[in-house]
Amino acid sequence: IPVDPFDLVLFGATGDLARRKILPGLYRRFHDGQMPEEARIIGAARSDLNDESFRALVAEAIAEFVGGKRSDPKIIEAFLQRLSYVPVDARGTDGWQQLAEKMEPGRIRAFYLSVAPALFGDLAERLHQHGIADATSRIVLEKPFGRDLASARALNATLAAHFHESQIYRIDHYLGKETVQNLMAVRFANILFEPLWNSQYVDHVQITVAETVGVGGRGSYYDKSGAMRDMVQNHLMQLLCLIAMEPPYHFDPDAVRDEKLKVIRALDPIGPDDLVRGQYRAHQGEPGYLEDAENPASRTESYIALRVHVANWRWKGTPFYLRTGKRLRARASEIAITFKEPPHSIFDEAGGDWRENQLVIRLQPNEGMNLKVMIKEPGPGGMRLVQVPLDMSFAEALGENGADIPDAYERLIMDVIRGNQTLFMRGDEVEAAWAWTDPIIAGWEARGDRPQGYDPGSSGPEDALMLLHRDSRRWREIK
Ligand code: BG6
Repeated sequence: IPVDPFDLVLFGATGDLARRKILPGLYRRFHDGQMPEEARIIGAARSDLNDESFRALVAEAIAEFVGGKRSDPKIIEAFLQRLSYVPVDARGTDGWQQLAEKMEPGRIRAFYLSVAPALFGDLAERLHQHGIADATSRIVLEKPFGRDLASARALNATLAAHFHESQIYRIDHYLGKETVQNLMAVRFANILFEPLWNSQYVDHVQITVAETVGVGGRGSYYDKSGAMRDMVQNHLMQLLCLIAMEPPYHFDPDAVRDEKLKVIRALDPIGPDDLVRGQYRAHQGEPGYLEDAENPASRTESYIALRVHVANWRWKGTPFYLRTGKRLRARASEIAITFKEPPHSIFDEAGGDWRENQLVIRLQPNEGMNLKVMIKEPGPGGMRLVQVPLDMSFAEALGENGADIPDAYERLIMDVIRGNQTLFMRGDEVEAAWAWTDPIIAGWEARGDRPQGYDPGSSGPEDALMLLHRDSRRWREIK
């Protein structure tokens, strides 16, 4: 279903994210008929391009990042005709008048600020000064939303000076991932899981976002951030919220976000025994973190594991173990819910390997679900039990529809145009997440903790294993 006609101004249109994700994503939506004929995308950046050279740049990006069944040159050309470009000085006056003249009255206006956060305030101010943005316009932003509570509050205040909260779309691209949205479908569209979804039946939850890439190329950003700020405060926190939250009364933006906020506010503080930080070392001629980050004295973590407690009626006593890191053995993101053993076994005399039920939701790659159940091992040898997987790959289960999973950005940009904020973070969520994160970081800084080294291609630092061993549990293998 096509969205309503819109003008989308993309600030930072020549940047890496625009080239890799945003523009190819917009093209895919256009190709699939979701963008009306009248829709226009206006690139804006400092570079001195014109419509033609901008289109050439986008054509290259499409060739590199789209391909497959969407490479029809006629459709690509039709998309390129939707594009134009205005050189704009975010902190000066150049280009703004020209941009103002480009905007057509009576359409949805969206401004995507794919730029350094230091420019958010300048752009917001100028959009208003020049009468380009109005009370119905939408503004789209990407993390980092500050680097602590104070800076996040300052940023929210700057935005609030020009835009109402209902106009602000803060992207956490994890919320745009189909499988992440599926967490809500699994929980709230099935009767099967929800009655067991509490500390009475759930032993513990593991949330893993493992990456094989290092930080090479973006070391200067990453070194000021680290895994806690780069991944936990936002992406892992969102996953935790979707797993732990109460059912919202409706799939409605504020109903969902209210419930997520309650989870963040219920998080217990984290002590030194609840976390392990790691940093990948140089290995077999490949650079370690210190070289990638170009800071030989860096104490920034490229890996973090945490034991988190959600202090509320539902979850009291069920730990959530979170881990994320770079240069690990595999790229694998998943959520594993391990249930408790049945209260009483009638199979005491039975042999076999008794294991708890476990529900694993694979977020990427090979998106799917795996429910581990106990059955009887076939054969005459008595009642031997064996654990088997009920395994489902979304691609297989959904056939063609499952194979063509849209990229997170495509979904989110279309939601901006539709005016649906469900999958975007509200300002108070961001602040609550920092309010929990800040003292954890302040704690390790005050203690002068150094991250523990780990080998690239491993599953992280040794101490992370201990975090679970101490609780008589173990991490799932990263593979
Ligand atoms: C980004 C982080 O937000 O998410 C990166 O800044 C990280 O460091 C990336 O690599 C992971 O996203 P995805 O979609 O590849 O899991």
